[in-house]
Amino acid sequence: MPTYTLSVNGKRVSVDAPADMPLLWVLRDLLGITGPKYGCGVGACRACTSHLNGAEIQPCVVPISDCANKQVTTIEGLAAGGTLHPVQQAWLEEDVPQCGYCQPGQIMAAAALLKRTSRPSDAEIDAIQNVCRCGTYCRIRSAIKKAATS
Ligand code: FES
Ligand code: FES
Repeated sequence: MPTYTLSVNGKRVSVDAPADMPLLWVLRDLLGITGPKYGCGVGACRACTSHLNGAEIQPCVVPISDCANKQVTTIEGLAAGGTLHPVQQAWLEEDVPQCGYCQPGQIMAAAALLKRTSRPSDAEIDAIQNVCRCGTYCRIRSAIKKAATS
């Protein structure tokens, strides 16, 4: 079985895994990083959303072989030291989550959006495709706007 070395939340790790094992399985089952959630496994629900080299990905559809020598960031690695990311802080202030299951993915998608566009429009926020069965979309929009001005 091949060995892959990558950086996960700033730490260099090596994993033995089949080339086609999805990154989500590597994170959750091999590394014990459970912030990225499993929802659909086919890139649709976006509960697993994380970042690869700073860009949004859905790790359920990214094979580990595409991650060698790259930087993966999950919700566990979003805060810088003891300081929450502005999106996380806004999420707290707007009291966004209900059940919470989709929220790591929502926050990672929002952080990626603000990296691409510092003042996103309503249309750009609404283009986020992460599914929330609890219907927290209005508060997500408010929190993203708050984070954009912080
Ligand atoms: S579990 Fe990855 S997009 Fe649904
Ligand atoms: S907060 Fe429950 S699915 Fe989004």
